[in-house]
Amino acid sequence: MIKKLLILSLSAALILAVVTPGADVTCNSNTDSTTCGPAGASTWAAGSTANKFKIADCTAVGSSLTGVFDTLCTSCPPSAGNVYAKPDQTGCINTPTAGSNVACQQAGACDNCGTLPQAFSWTKASDTTNCVVKSCFAAPQPTTGLTDNFCGSCQKTNKFANSYGTACVNPTGGNCTRKASWTDDDCKLCNAGGANSTNVKASADKTSCVAASSSSQIIAVSALFLASLFI
Ligand SMILES: *[C@@H]1O[C@H](CO)[C@@H](O)[C@H](O)[C@H]1NC(C)=O
Ligand SMILES: *[C@@H]1O[C@H](CO)[C@@H](O)[C@H](O)[C@H]1NC(C)=O
Repeated sequence: MIKKLLILSLSAALILAVVTPGADVTCNSNTDSTTCGPAGASTWAAGSTANKFKIADCTAVGSSLTGVFDTLCTSCPPSAGNVYAKPDQTGCINTPTAGSNVACQQAGACDNCGTLPQAFSWTKASDTTNCVVKSCFAAPQPTTGLTDNFCGSCQKTNKFANSYGTACVNPTGGNCTRKASWTDDDCKLCNAGGANSTNVKASADKTSCVAASSSSQIIAVSALFLASLFI
């Protein structure tokens, strides 16, 4: 009897000790696993190869999932082939949520579409002019290295990268690198949160954004000029 109990508890301990590490995945940083997104009720561990991460224990991930990305699904597919996040991000399916078309296909390739954050990739659309981000849920959208092409493919409203590539924004007059049609609102939106955040005014000719003080100087000078007309 005691022997049986001993064997039983030993095997229970063995079962408890079994962990199933996930497959290696690429996140948007080689060193920061928060760029992988959620790991369910498990955690991210260093991958088996350099610059990768893997879920520490797939049996611990659980089924009550929210906000998941392909990283979780690829590391611990709940069933074979379901390596992409569902469009509502509550689980995993076998097809990616591709981005919308960006007209950057050239010579049958997407090499001209610009560099994406490393967890993302381009793939050709079913025509000869466009490419799409293969999966917009590859990993959480990073806060560096965003481009107009990335935002244009993966975002519904915020189709342009801000001046620093740190966010996708929705200026009314076009992209944040244009040389025309600037408005104060677009200047604020494109330049917020970075080195040029004081450039909140459109220049008089609308070709650039300038600091509020330089346009108030113009106003002051014009006021002086107007005043001189009355003296
Ligand atoms: C900041 O403003 C300067 C001067 O207008 C410009 O040359 C530079 O490209 C801007 N940098 C960014 C990141 O927008
Ligand atoms: C930004 O917009 C301007 C004006 O529409 C355009 O000429 C330019 O090519 C655009 N830049 C990029 C990077 O798409």
